[in-house]
Amino acid sequence: MLSRAERERALGQRARVLWFTGLSGSGKTTIAVELERKLFEMGRFAQILDGDNLRTGINSDLGFSDADRMENIRRVAEISKLYLNSGIICINCFISPKTEMRELARSIVGPEDFTEVFVDTPIDVCEKRDPKGLYQKARAGLIPHFTGIDDVYEPPLNPDIVVNANLLSVEEAVNKILAEIS
Ligand code: ADX
Repeated sequence: MLSRAERERALGQRARVLWFTGLSGSGKTTIAVELERKLFEMGRFAQILDGDNLRTGINSDLGFSDADRMENIRRVAEISKLYLNSGIICINCFISPKTEMRELARSIVGPEDFTEVFVDTPIDVCEKRDPKGLYQKARAGLIPHFTGIDDVYEPPLNPDIVVNANLLSVEEAVNKILAEIS
């Protein structure tokens, strides 16, 4: 059987999981897309997984209760392990609002391959941006259990990388992450 190390050697990179956590609208996916492109230009291969694409497919049976969010994160972590074994860098963008969810992901992936990136954008900034109009709907009571409005977001206490996405440009955020992982 081909080993992960052989695949990594062939690809010329170290596989890892970058786990972005942060509120909806914090900039996780925007930063991830730019990071993936920059890595690509450096000859590295990454794959973005995010709530919006996985929840329409493999996780379409899941909602936003605590149990469903846990299951969402568990499945994503398991999928990430497959990518890791293929030598691919996984960039995961999930609110992952609770410490226990992020810890579950870390333990499934394995701490040595897991980097927690906190996209720390204050809720008022996310709400003002409201790229999908969801905060407005949540305020109107149309989306129950919306993270940051009537559901909890526990900020990471000890993230590996913090990105203040409201203070940095996307490029600066990407460069900060690249500097910390290379
Ligand atoms: S997580 O909590 O399980 O990690 P995930 O990142 O997959 O969430 O999905 C978040 C996305 O789902 C948000 O960006 C938003 O577009 C959408 N969404 C729909 N309902 C909710 C809700 N109640 N809370 C948060 N996000 C929601």
